Amino acid sequence: MSGAGWKAIEDHQLRPLARLFEEEPDRLSRLALEVSGIYFDWSKTHLDAALVDAFAALADQSGLPAARDALFAGGIVNPTENRPAEHVAERGHGSPDAVALATARRTRMRALVDAIEAGAFGDVTGILHIGIGGSVLGPALLVDALGPGRARLDVSFLSNIDPQAFEQAVEPLDPATTLVVAVSKTFTTIETLSNLAAGLNWLREGGVADPEGRVIAVTAAPEAALEAGIDDSRNLQFAEGIGGRYSLWSSVSVTVALAVGWDAFEEMLEGAAAMDRHFRFAEPRHNAPMIAAFADLLYAQKLKAQTRAVFPYDERLHLLVPYLQQLEMESNGKSARIDGQALGRPSAPVTWGGVGTDAQHAVFQLLHQGTAVIPVEFVAVAEDEVGLGDHHRQLLLNAFGQGAALMFGQASDDPHHSYPGDRPSATILLDRLDPRSLGALIAFYEHRTVTNAVLLGINPFDQFGVELGKQIAQALGQSDEDESLDPSTRALIQRAAI
Ligand code: F6P
Repeated sequence: MSGAGWKAIEDHQLRPLARLFEEEPDRLSRLALEVSGIYFDWSKTHLDAALVDAFAALADQSGLPAARDALFAGGIVNPTENRPAEHVAERGHGSPDAVALATARRTRMRALVDAIEAGAFGDVTGILHIGIGGSVLGPALLVDALGPGRARLDVSFLSNIDPQAFEQAVEPLDPATTLVVAVSKTFTTIETLSNLAAGLNWLREGGVADPEGRVIAVTAAPEAALEAGIDDSRNLQFAEGIGGRYSLWSSVSVTVALAVGWDAFEEMLEGAAAMDRHFRFAEPRHNAPMIAAFADLLYAQKLKAQTRAVFPYDERLHLLVPYLQQLEMESNGKSARIDGQALGRPSAPVTWGGVGTDAQHAVFQLLHQGTAVIPVEFVAVAEDEVGLGDHHRQLLLNAFGQGAALMFGQASDDPHHSYPGDRPSATILLDRLDPRSLGALIAFYEHRTVTNAVLLGINPFDQFGVELGKQIAQALGQSDEDESLDPSTRALIQRAAI
C-alpha cells in the first residue's frame, strides 16, 4: 500500500506544541474549523502544516476519495460481506434504490409512531427497549442526550443477559402501559431473545392479555421476528447493508422518535446529512472527519499511542464514550487488511474516557504525569440550558483549563510536582446540544472512523472477531463435561456450579 505516504509521516520531525504555536502563527485558523454549529480545534495536537499535507497525500494514495464516493453511491464498501454500507441512505445519500427503500421504511416507522401517539395501543407511558451493541448504544445515547426537557415517556434500555439488568430495567415501568421495542438486526442474538422472552413473561404476569401485541420488532430479518410471534404490522425493517453500530439513523431509533418526538428524530438526520456534505465536499485540509483521523493516525501509528481518551464535559453525553467504543473498536480493531494481508501496523487504539469534571478527580493524574502518550478529546457544549449559578461556566473553564495544562505542563525541581506538558488534546465545542448538532456530531465520528480505516486499509464494516467467544459460550452450555476443555475454564464452571 501507500508506503511512500507513510514514510513521509514517519520521517517527519515533530515539534513541541508550544513551539508550533510560535512558529505557525496561522495555526489556529488552519486547525480549528466550524461545521454545522460545532467548533473543532486540533491546534493543541502535534499536527503541523507539513504533516496535514502528508496525511492528505496519504489519503489520496490510499484511495480515500474513491472509497468516499463509493460509500455515498451505495457501492460495495464492505467486500468481506459483499455489501454496501447503507446508513448514509437513511440521510438521503446512497444509491437511489437504497434511498427510496430507506424513505419507505421511515414512512412506515412514522405511521407506527403516529398510531401509538394517537392511542392505538391505549395509554402508553413507558418503553422497554431491548437490544445489545449497536441495537441499543445509539438509541440510548440519543434518548439520554436529547431527553432532558423533551422526553415524553419513561424509557428503559435493556441489553445485558444479567438478570440483575432485567430487574433494574423493568423496575420503573408499569407493564399495563409499557411497549416493548425489541431490536436485533439478526434476531438471533441470545441476549436480546432471552430478554424478550423475559419481557413477554413480565407483561403476562403484569396482567397483559396479549403480550406479543405490545411488542414492536426492529430487524433486518423480519421473518425471524414473525416466527417469534411479532405480527407484521409491528415489524419494522432496516437494510441488511446497515451495520449495527451504524444503525441509529434507521427504524432502530423508533424508541427515540417515540421518546423525544418525530421532529427531533428528523432534525437529527438533517444534522447528519449536513456533516455528510461537509465530509464529501470539503477539501482534506479543511475537512473535520479527515483532520481528526489524521491526528488519530499520528498518535496511534507514529507515536504508538495504544489508547485515546474522550471526555464529554456534559452530563447529557455520558453515553458518548460507550457508543464510540463500539463504533471505533468494532470497526477498526482488526489485524488483517481488506485484501487479507497482515495489517503490519497498530490497529485502532483503545477508546476510553469518562465525564468531566468527574474524570478529573479520578483518572487525569495519569494523563498529566503518567508515562503513556494518550491523545485526549474534550467534548463540550457552549450553551447553558439550565442556568444554575456559575456551574456551567466552571464546567467549561475546567475543560479548557485541562487542555491548556496538558499542553503547557509545569516545570519544577521536585519531580513529584513536575508536569512534563506537551500532551496533545483536541476540543469539540457544540454551540448547543440539539438533535441537529448531535446528528452532525455522530456522523462526524462515523466518517472519522471510516477515514481511519481507509488509510489503514481496514474494512470498518465487518466484525468477525466477535463470533468465537459467543460460539465457545454456546458450546460450553451444551457440554461442560467436554474433555477438550482447558482446566481453567472447567474449574470456573465447577466453581460457579452452573
Ligand atoms: O456481537 C456483536 C454484534 O454483532 C454487534 O455488531 C451488533 O451491534 C450486536 O452484536 C447486536 O446484534 P443484533 O442487532 O443482530 O442483535
